[in-house]
Amino acid sequence: MKEVIKYFDCFAGIGGFHCGAQKINSDNYTFEHVAYCEVETNAQKVYEVACNAKNIQKINDVRDIATKKNPGGIKVKDFDMLFAGFPCQSFSNVGYRKGFDDPRGQLFFYILDMLDYYKPKYFVLENVQKIHTIKGGNLLGEMKQALKEIGDGYILHTWDLMASDYGLPQKRNRIFFCGIRKDLAEELDIEEPEKVDLSKAKYPTTWHLLEKGNVDSKHYIPAGSRKTILTKPSNWQGDVNIDNSIARPLTATMSKWHRANQDNYFSISYIKGMNPYERPEVDIESEPIRRITPLEGFRLQGFPDKYADIASQLKISYSAQYKLIGNALPVDLAYAVIKHFLDSYLEYNK
Ligand SMILES: C[S@@+](CC[C@H](N)C(=O)[O-])C[C@H]1O[C@@H](n2cnc3c(N)ncnc32)[C@H](O)[C@@H]1O
Repeated sequence: MKEVIKYFDCFAGIGGFHCGAQKINSDNYTFEHVAYCEVETNAQKVYEVACNAKNIQKINDVRDIATKKNPGGIKVKDFDMLFAGFPCQSFSNVGYRKGFDDPRGQLFFYILDMLDYYKPKYFVLENVQKIHTIKGGNLLGEMKQALKEIGDGYILHTWDLMASDYGLPQKRNRIFFCGIRKDLAEELDIEEPEKVDLSKAKYPTTWHLLEKGNVDSKHYIPAGSRKTILTKPSNWQGDVNIDNSIARPLTATMSKWHRANQDNYFSISYIKGMNPYERPEVDIESEPIRRITPLEGFRLQGFPDKYADIASQLKISYSAQYKLIGNALPVDLAYAVIKHFLDSYLEYNK
């Protein structure tokens, strides 16, 4: 008999964890989606349709969930596994590395409170790798310790993984925290999930997922901004290369026309060319150059193409779509982590 793992998708966004879990096909276990929590309206709308969540328990704000500290709160339906890609603004560069002192960093404590109260069998949490450098690494140490000790105690594994090692042409690093309740297993010495050969993936490079036909003219760099975006000021280090076969990490603010060293831009010569691995000669004065479209963004994060249709049917603006995409967890990373973690423990404990 397969174990049915009921999961609660917290800080659900547009469902990176959900899509990753749903792709897993195991002889030992299967999943049941029981609840999700997400505060942002656009994310809720997309999630509800794309993740078929109309009849799933929905909680808007994690701070309203019942825990020991909030006994009158909303009780989450019975669940075995917690997924949580908790907001990372306070941990990333843009958040000034305030860590726990920032109210958004405090959301981590709600995860601890939930683990303490509901005592799920398993959890997988995700965050930005910058967490390593906050307070000289002490913050990460404190988080790991807390996750091991909370509730009845958990066996904890943490992995730093790059999306391009797991089937997506994007340089996106994430740290994962995987826990299994101590009473359920002996601690295993498990390595990170086995890497995937990108050349055999659905989209081996950005070129493979770029729309080859006409796209909305709004996606082309406006004439007045070309110089600032595409040329490197003399006092700058780093590259402003466009036409990268492996994309830079997608950002939530990519509608703001960042400089080329912070974002992803592609020339018509590359898009229409025949060599995905080589940058063509481009006249940056005159050649049309564009940002990625929302469909390409969803693909770069591993979401199925239906996401772009759903977002446009819901009349979600481009900038709001980029925000959802840029905040998302790559589906292929979620898939690799959840599968490897559960396969290791559920196989071993059979
Ligand atoms: C890093 S994103 C997670 C993205 C998600 N894993 C995905 O694949 O799209 C964090 C999410 O937490 C949501 N969030 C922020 N504060 C929240 C709160 N107080 N309660 C519930 N969700 C919250 C944000 O709106 C955002 O969608």
